[in-house]
Amino acid sequence: MQLSTKHLLGIKNLLPQDISLILSTAAQFKEVLQRPVKKVPSLRDVTIVNLFYESSTRTRISFELAEKRLGADTINFTASGSSVSKGETLLDTVNNILSMKVDMVVMRHSASGAPHFLAKHIDAAIVNAGDGINEHPTQALLDAFSITEKLGSLQGKKIVLLGDIMHSRVALSNIYLLKKMGAEVMVAGPPTLIPKYIHEALDVQVEYNLKKALEWCDVANVLRIQLERQNQVLFSSLREYNLAYGVSKKLLDGLKKEIVIMHPGPINRGVEIDSDVADGSQSIILQQVENGVAVRMAVLYLLAGVKS
Ligand code: CP
Repeated sequence: MQLSTKHLLGIKNLLPQDISLILSTAAQFKEVLQRPVKKVPSLRDVTIVNLFYESSTRTRISFELAEKRLGADTINFTASGSSVSKGETLLDTVNNILSMKVDMVVMRHSASGAPHFLAKHIDAAIVNAGDGINEHPTQALLDAFSITEKLGSLQGKKIVLLGDIMHSRVALSNIYLLKKMGAEVMVAGPPTLIPKYIHEALDVQVEYNLKKALEWCDVANVLRIQLERQNQVLFSSLREYNLAYGVSKKLLDGLKKEIVIMHPGPINRGVEIDSDVADGSQSIILQQVENGVAVRMAVLYLLAGVKS
C-alpha cells in the first residue's frame, strides 16, 4: 500500500486510508524503536534536508532522529546564520539545496502556506513541519497515534482541544484528522481565542466553560497560549487566564471519570496547565513526544515510496 499524496502538506487533503496507513506503519516502527538496535536501513540512499525557519525542539529533533533511524543522510538548515539574512528567498534557498541532490524537504515556516508554495515549484517531496497558523500534520498524527495507543481507537471518542484555538496549527490539523477518523470534537476556551463560525466551518462543538468541556470529554488536548502570534490583547492577564481556563488537579479530581491529558508542547506551566497535571498520572505528554519519532519515520518511509 502507498499514500495517495506525494507531499504531506496538511491533514486537510489526506484520505482516511492514508491516515490509517501512517498510523499502522508507525506502530511497526515503534516496535523497531524498542529493540536494542533501533535502526532499519529503509532510506539508506535518501538525503533529507530539515529546513527550519522557525524555532522548534520536539519536531526538529524527532524528524532528525527518525531520519537517522531509517538510515537517511540528513542536513539541518536553520534560517539564523544562513544567507536568508542577506535576503535570499525561500525558493532560491531550496533550489540551491536541492541542486546538491537532496530528495526530501522537511520544512517549518512562520508563513502559513509556505510548504504549499514550495510544492508548486520543486520536485522533491515536502513534509510540512508546521506552517504559521495553518497546519502541523505530523503533530496531529502523533496525537492520534497516542490516543489510539491509550484508548484503543479514535472512533466515537470525545476529544476537546482546549485554549488558544485561534492561533493553533495543532488545533486545525487535529480537527481535520479526528473528524476524518470518526471522533467527536469540541473546541473550548475564551471566546476571544476561538474563531467565529468554527462550528459551521468545521463541524465542531464549541464550549466556553472549562469544567463543562472537561466533563464532556475522554481526552483533553491542552494548547499553548501563543503570545508570539497575538498582536492584540485577547485576555486580561496570564493569571486570570489560568484562573478561568488553566487545567488544575482540583478540576480533574472533581470529575466523575479519569480523562487523558495531552499537550503538544512547549508547555506554559501555571498558565494553560498546572505542573501537577502536566507531570501527573493522567498525562501522556512525554508519550506523545516519544511517539513523534515512530510517526515521523512512517511519514518519511511512506512518502519515499510514492511514485510520482
Ligand atoms: N509540538 C511542537 O511542534 O513542538 P516544537 O515547536 O518544539 O517542535
